[in-house]
Amino acid sequence: MSQSDLHRSAVATPRHIAIIMDGNGRWAESQGKPRVLGHRAGVKSVREVVALCRERKVESLTLFAFSSENWRRPEREVQLLMKLFTTVLRREVRLLKKNGVRLKIIGDISGFEPKLQERIRLAEAQTAECGQMVLNIAANYGGRWDMVDAARQMATLALQGEITPEQIDEALMDRFTCLSDQAEVDLLIRTGGEQRISNFLLWQAAYSELFFSDTLWPDFGEAAFEEALEAFASRQRRFGQTGAQVTPR
Ligand code: IPE
Ligand code: IPE
Ligand code: MG
Repeated sequence: MSQSDLHRSAVATPRHIAIIMDGNGRWAESQGKPRVLGHRAGVKSVREVVALCRERKVESLTLFAFSSENWRRPEREVQLLMKLFTTVLRREVRLLKKNGVRLKIIGDISGFEPKLQERIRLAEAQTAECGQMVLNIAANYGGRWDMVDAARQMATLALQGEITPEQIDEALMDRFTCLSDQAEVDLLIRTGGEQRISNFLLWQAAYSELFFSDTLWPDFGEAAFEEALEAFASRQRRFGQTGAQVTPR
């Protein structure tokens, strides 16, 4: 990447946006409703943000839907989330396909019930040929899981004599982590007011610009999205260099 490219990436629209969709439960609770209604209301925001990203020619959108730690929630909430996930996958595929959006699920799919695993495979297959944008849904995903999984795959190859330990470097590790087939995550947004990563993209977010929004996910729409894009455009991305190095004279 040339120095002027580095600078340009700060003013252009991000190629890859990742979002920690947080605040569904509080949104519902603040209205005296059960938490699951917040999750349901959050689906509308997903649809809206997918459309906004498509309009702005964002190449990849990665949404954190269920973390590897979310299994710790009350059984009833987990069950309802799984049901919602299954329904949404079935219901939304047609619209995604119509809009040229390829769906990809990242995370440890083996942790889900066989029926949901099958639904995931089907939804991915139905949108496999779509080329306008990639929508990655992180489900049973954890950044630590992602890195451990990469390490395990490399160890297996090493045992099989396919690679030597000396060949393990950042580029190789990257190949075995999720999203390596897509652009770097330029912008990582978290809604809902908390300022933490919660085990999301630990490897991939090394140089992402972070944006924390107080808006709860079901209320997240065009205005909040624009605010995040404006913040991104105002950042100077230095990638370890000095400001003078990346700002063209
Ligand atoms: C995020 O909203 C969605 C999931 C984690 C599935 P939350 O359910 O975490 O909402 P809050 O943080 O409790 O408000
Ligand atoms: C992160 O939100 C996971 C998702 C948005 C899917 P959480 O609500 O689970 O995060 P913590 O527990 O507040 O860190
Ligand atoms: Mg939360």
